[in-house]
Amino acid sequence: MSDPREFRNALGQFATGVTVVTTMDNEGIPVGVTASSFNSVSLDPPLVLWSLAKTAHSMPAYQTSGGFNVHVLASHQSDLSNQFARPSEDKFKGVSWAPCENGFPVLPEFAALFRCKTHYQYEGGDHIIFVGEVVDYQHHDFPVLVFQGGKYADAKIKAAPADPARPAIDIESGQFTHDFLLYLISRAHFQTSYPTRKACAKIGMSEPEYFCLSLLSMSGPLPADEIVSRLEHTGHHPDAEIFARLQRKGWIKGTDDEISISDKGRETFIGLLAHSKALEEQLLKHFTDDELLGAQTFLQKLIQITGSDIPELW
Ligand SMILES: Cc1cc2nc3c(=O)[nH]c(=O)nc-3n(C[C@H](O)[C@H](O)[C@H](O)COP(=O)(O)O)c2cc1C
Repeated sequence: MSDPREFRNALGQFATGVTVVTTMDNEGIPVGVTASSFNSVSLDPPLVLWSLAKTAHSMPAYQTSGGFNVHVLASHQSDLSNQFARPSEDKFKGVSWAPCENGFPVLPEFAALFRCKTHYQYEGGDHIIFVGEVVDYQHHDFPVLVFQGGKYADAKIKAAPADPARPAIDIESGQFTHDFLLYLISRAHFQTSYPTRKACAKIGMSEPEYFCLSLLSMSGPLPADEIVSRLEHTGHHPDAEIFARLQRKGWIKGTDDEISISDKGRETFIGLLAHSKALEEQLLKHFTDDELLGAQTFLQKLIQITGSDIPELW
């Protein structure tokens, strides 16, 4: 082989996923390594393989444990990949793993998990090739982490060409497809706000009440007519009855000239906000950084274009 670096560079052109393979050593200490050498081998029987450098500290554990768990990492798990690629006394630091029924560590998150019984071990030059028989598997709908040319990457699915015979909206027949952009925006809003609306309903907060608290929490004290005017475009028109209800519940204070959110109102609103934030954190895991950046740019531009005659909310 002429140039080892060139050989590595050539191999790096083969894009792979990234896995963390875990097992237990003979003292019952969990071990794990990051491995991109994972691949499928056979459907029947279900076999997978990966290879480990003979110099790896964890080699004896994989050679003797009788099994391992392969976690295919999701796009948001590059830090975890780095954690398991660095030799360390405690690679599981900060990771809340649980043992599977064979006692091998299962990580809390993954795009796919293959629980394996070690089927064969082959000599492979400076590596040992482990072939595992899959005894159980699971997968989640996360975008996967990719490794290519020595760097992490995201997989971008090539878009299927649009069908010109099926327009997104057909005015004559009153029909629209799932590609109709404004339908998609409304539906995404409806679905993503549904859990928060349910949380509001649970504590007896109506939508106009939620909008008032949200505005007051962001902007500080406002006169009643200013609140009404700023919420105009949301379709909510808080009237005297709504302000009286918010007062009765102790969520706002002051008079019509200057209404502000009370401590109790702020605490309630922060609870709902925390609920939304937790939901967002879960949702974001389903998108790559690129997708999120694209979506943010698109939505900010859409808000700017369509918001020219709407007063600034805060
Ligand atoms: C993305 C990525 C993929 C890797 N793939 C492999 C692999 O397939 N086989 C291997 O032996 N080491 C691989 N490594 C290196 C090991 O994870 C690293 O050497 C690890 O520390 C070995 O574990 P040890 O603590 O048992 O020595 C990879 C590292 C990274 C960052």
